[in-house]
Amino acid sequence: MNAPNALLQVRDLKKSFAVRRGFLQRSEGAVRAVDGVDLDILPHQTLGLVGESGCGKSTVARLILRLLYPDSGRIHFNGSEITDLNERAFKPLRKQMQMIFQDPYSSLNPRMTVAQSIGEGVRIAGIADKTAQRRQIERLLDMVGMPAESADRYPHEFSGGQRQRVGIARALSVSPRLILCDEPISALDVSIQAQIINLLKDLQDELGLSYLFISHDLNVVSYICDHVSVMYRGLIMESAPAQMLFDHPRHPYTLKLLSAVTPVRGGAHPASAPLDEDFDPQKQTMVEAAPGHWVRM
Ligand SMILES: Nc1ncnc2c1ncn2[C@@H]1O[C@H](COP(=O)(O)OP(=O)(O)O)[C@@H](O)[C@H]1O
Ligand SMILES: [Mg+2]
Repeated sequence: MNAPNALLQVRDLKKSFAVRRGFLQRSEGAVRAVDGVDLDILPHQTLGLVGESGCGKSTVARLILRLLYPDSGRIHFNGSEITDLNERAFKPLRKQMQMIFQDPYSSLNPRMTVAQSIGEGVRIAGIADKTAQRRQIERLLDMVGMPAESADRYPHEFSGGQRQRVGIARALSVSPRLILCDEPISALDVSIQAQIINLLKDLQDELGLSYLFISHDLNVVSYICDHVSVMYRGLIMESAPAQMLFDHPRHPYTLKLLSAVTPVRGGAHPASAPLDEDFDPQKQTMVEAAPGHWVRM
């Protein structure tokens, strides 16, 4: 699992949350949300991170972006270790990593016009002149397929798909190299989902972006991702180039996920083996079952 040219490299990342209950909020143990995750994201590529709700996907993204601090583990970005950087040292890197969310409402301030929301990033990117800022805002809107007039409107005036486009324009405003997409289409109408996915693909080709694409929709993942990592209870179970993973899934949990959806890329999958009740992923290690195809066993 070593990619020397990775843009982002995550090693043995761990994060637990205290579970508190009752009036006194007594601590009742901890949830091991992320329990030793390894990831590599290559330049201009998309890594899919899949797994059922609660397995720790969003926590991984938040740890990478430093919205949360890890308990342990290492994160390298563009060859440099960023795990222990202080806020000041991390600041220039923050521009290079952006996130888009399931609900763009969480990244768009409802009281700011689109121009104001995107304008923040444009200023951070170093464009000081007002006229040049406006031109850049309109250029970014054009890149995501929105008319220039939308700049003076508010988020509530748009449909979900349009709002997601604005969210993408806002993420692009600082010229990032990596975008963490956390279920970016799950809240959208099915008819709109493909448009947003194709937009993300086109932007990747045009700008050479890397994506971490978090999703539970395996059909979408098989379409957009170059490489896929399957996560279960805070750990990666299987990791392989997308085609390899979908054509020859090896881990019982991957089979279980795949059997829950219409077969992807043709070909039926073997019936899913139920996961053993005693199955403890921590007792297993990642093994390279075929070149480039890693499985926990
Ligand atoms: N801030 C938090 N405080 C306490 N528990 C949390 C927090 N964030 C996530 N968790 C728990 O960590 C686990 C993983 O959550 P999450 O990363 O959101 O999963 P996913 O994105 O795969 O659905 C879940 O059990 C969730 O309840
Ligand atoms: Mg999540």
